[in-house]
Amino acid sequence: MSEAVAKENSTTTAPQPPQVPARVAQLWKRGTDFLGCPVAILGGAMSWVSERHLVAAISNAGGFGVIACGSMPPKLLDAEIKATRALTDKPFGVNLITMHPDLVELIEVCQSNRVSHVVFAAGLLPGEAIKRAKAFAKVVCFAPAASFAKRLIKSGADALVIEGSEAGGHIGPVSTAVLAQEILPVIRDVPVFVAGGIARGDAILSFLELGASGVQMGTRFVCATECIAHPKFKQAFIRASAREAVASVQYDKRLPVIAVRALANEGTAEFMETQRRVLEKHLRGELELPAAQLEIEHFWAGALRRAVIDGDVERGSVMAGQSVGMVTREEPVAAIIAELMAQAGEALAARAKN
Ligand SMILES: Cc1cc2nc3c(=O)[nH]c(=O)nc-3n(C[C@H](O)[C@H](O)[C@H](O)COP(=O)(O)O)c2cc1C
Repeated sequence: MSEAVAKENSTTTAPQPPQVPARVAQLWKRGTDFLGCPVAILGGAMSWVSERHLVAAISNAGGFGVIACGSMPPKLLDAEIKATRALTDKPFGVNLITMHPDLVELIEVCQSNRVSHVVFAAGLLPGEAIKRAKAFAKVVCFAPAASFAKRLIKSGADALVIEGSEAGGHIGPVSTAVLAQEILPVIRDVPVFVAGGIARGDAILSFLELGASGVQMGTRFVCATECIAHPKFKQAFIRASAREAVASVQYDKRLPVIAVRALANEGTAEFMETQRRVLEKHLRGELELPAAQLEIEHFWAGALRRAVIDGDVERGSVMAGQSVGMVTREEPVAAIIAELMAQAGEALAARAKN
């Protein structure tokens, strides 16, 4: 067999199912049943990063890939779902941002493509959107607090993600450890997946034991071989330590800033300077408050794409969670999942000895 044919065959061979410790399989059974895959790990949707290749790789490795729709128009989402399906016959989901102006059309695209799971991101209670999506899919929502979680379930959410402030991207103020303790003991009606700062299998095991049905991880998958992020973006992850993944700072409460966790760079410093300059302009009466707010919001427009796709890690937004310090090399998704399962297995074996 020629080398080329051998290579082709090796990439088309069905991947081996991951070795999941029996105790883990038992603990996350509700999660695996809900997702329809053997590993209850959602690959957290990351705009520009979670496209067909990474999503299909996660699902092919036994996890649950989720396409990040981000600001895509309906036509592009349609193409992305179809392209993902060409790369995997395993289940995957689609993450929609509830503030998207074409939300209804995007849900229709999911329906026409028979998407099995829709994940709604962002703070607003997406009551109407949940109803529409529930007609054809299982609906997953982000719950930032126990009271909100209960309202989401009442509105029809079939599962929840609770995401702590250690996570990469847009974040709330409460840590994963606190959210897990506040929400897992009281929300039993639907599966709950924990996100934010998770990078090891023994940590996954702990959250399952607290009552989670699975976890969602983003940062840990960025340096997957299958991920299309620019080599400079991946290098920045491999070099960074936890303390470099910082939440954006609001300069003044008159100009509110939604916190985003990203690697500190020139852009971070410039953002502070821009906030100061815009506020001064407003105080001098040169800029109305709404226009000032718009100028602040526009600062990061396109910045994630610049970092992920163009590799501008100095001025772009290198969104990353605090677990970035535990990302040490580029490796295939299957190897990442195998390592996580081995770590969970080691933790269980160590306990059995005690
Ligand atoms: C680069 C990047 C982009 C992200 N984009 C999105 C997004 O578009 N929608 C979303 O719901 N979450 C987004 N997230 C959050 C992830 O889906 C996931 O919940 C988070 O990464 C989990 O925390 P971790 O980074 O500590 O693993 C993003 C995270 C990162 C690192």
